[in-house]
Formats: sequence, structure tokens, C-alpha cells
Amino acid sequence: MIRLSHIGKTYGAGADTFNALADIDLTVARNEFVALTGASGSGKSTLMNLLGCLDTPTTGEYWLDGEAVAGLDEDELARVRNRKIGFVFQNFHLLPRMNAWANVAQPLIYRGVAPAERRERAQRALQRMGLGHRLEHRPNELSGGQRQRVAIARALVGEPELLLADEPTGNLDSSTAAEIMALLAQLHAEGLTLIVVTHEPDIAAQCHRVVRLHDGRIVDDRRQRPQRQAPAARATA
Ligand SMILES: Nc1ncnc2c1ncn2[C@@H]1O[C@H](COP(=O)(O)OP(=O)(O)OP(=O)(O)O)[C@@H](O)[C@H]1O
Ligand SMILES: [Mg+2]
Repeated sequence: MIRLSHIGKTYGAGADTFNALADIDLTVARNEFVALTGASGSGKSTLMNLLGCLDTPTTGEYWLDGEAVAGLDEDELARVRNRKIGFVFQNFHLLPRMNAWANVAQPLIYRGVAPAERRERAQRALQRMGLGHRLEHRPNELSGGQRQRVAIARALVGEPELLLADEPTGNLDSSTAAEIMALLAQLHAEGLTLIVVTHEPDIAAQCHRVVRLHDGRIVDDRRQRPQRQAPAARATA
């Protein structure tokens, strides 16, 4: 699904440059569930942005689903992003004036899906996230865990092959974080490929593979048996 070869990313220009990533080789097969870890500033978000075609590398090659994407221009990258990748962020990135289903329907606008179908698909995605009773709520009327589930529904509404999540549980208490991780594990079981940035060891422990960055380089890459944490028993409504 993903192959990075000798990827480097340099920020800045002239004498004031900084190598945020250097010589990154990484292969991720379809349906892997990968944690990307490392200290603050190690390059996790930079790598995530490259993987997500939100940014282009300074050096190296990137093949996504067989397509060489490192050399694509803005429009072509947007097309790849829209078709293949869903994003989830620490701060949810929901539009505050729109209700849950309108937020989820947003990516379908760029795909030219008709309004009635957008609404139906958004509502179905929210129902799948257990939010069928919160369709008309705005983000500020939802809990943190519910907001993140709306964001996950939005990431999935276009049926991407790859889900990228940058600290998806970073703003959640531990029991809500466990719910979100259980949800991601469920999506993995259904066939999705997931890469999750986290600096929390117990989140990384729930993934099938852990890739660790240090100063812009991969210093560790190991497969493991995931440790499942059962969400605390409480109503999720
Ligand atoms: N746009 C930019 N311009 C210049 N330097 C940048 C830019 N973005 C990131 N950097 C630098 O690149 C390095 C890697 O940043 P990155 O955001 O990828 O780290 P991170 O591992 O995600 O950290 P955190 O855990 O704090 O989110 C940092 O030293 C950062 O200061
Ligand atoms: Mg980051």
C-alpha cells in the first residue's frame, strides 16, 4: 500500500535549513495497523503529512497504491488524498457552525456527490459510529469522544483505503481514549489500513506494529501482538 524510499524533508532555505526527516525507508502493507511514535520534534507529524499527501518530500520516492506521488502537483495530490486517505486529528478539526452530519458530508462535496446522497451517506457513517442520535448536534453540543467519532465518520465517509490519525486520543480522557482505540481496532478488523501517531505507550501497545522516530530517522520498527484494552463499562450515549 505504502512504500517510502530514502525520503527526506528539509524545512527552510539557505543557511537556515532543518532536516526534519532523513533517509526514511518504510513499507506498509494493506490492512496493517501501525503506531508511529517518537519524542516531540522527532518528525512524526512531518512524516504523517507526507504519507497523507498534504506535503511533498524534499528527496526520495513515495509510492501509494502503486502510484508515484512524490512528484505530483497540488491538484493531483488533492485528488489522491480525496480518493484514498482519511484523516483524524487531535483537535477534531470540525466546523463549529455545522451539525454532525453536515461535517461528515463535507468531503463528499469535493467528490461531486449529490446533496441527498451526501446526507444519507453522512448519516449512515454516523450511525456506524454509534451517533445516530446526534445527527443534528453541533460540535460544541457533543462530548470529546463524540466529536472524535464525528471526525472518524468524516474520515471514512469517502471509503478511503488508508486512515491516518495524528494523536487521535491526545485530547481525550483515558476511558474515552480506550473507546476510540476500540473503534479503530474494529475498523482494522474490517480491512482498513491504519497509521496512528502517538507518544503514549499504551496506545502504541494496541497496534500491531510500532515504528519509532528519533531526530527524523526511523530507529525502531517492530511487529507485536496488540494488547487490547476493554473500554470501561459505562453508557456511551
Ligand atoms: N513548517 C516548518 N518549518 C520549519 N520547521 C518545521 C516545520 N514543521 C516542523 N518543523 C520542525 O521539524 C521537526 C519535526 O516536527 P514535527 O511536527 O514533525 O514533530 P512531531 O514528532 O510531530 O512532534 P510533536 O510530538 O510535538 O507533535 C521539529 O523540530 C519542528 O520544529
Ligand atoms: Mg506532531
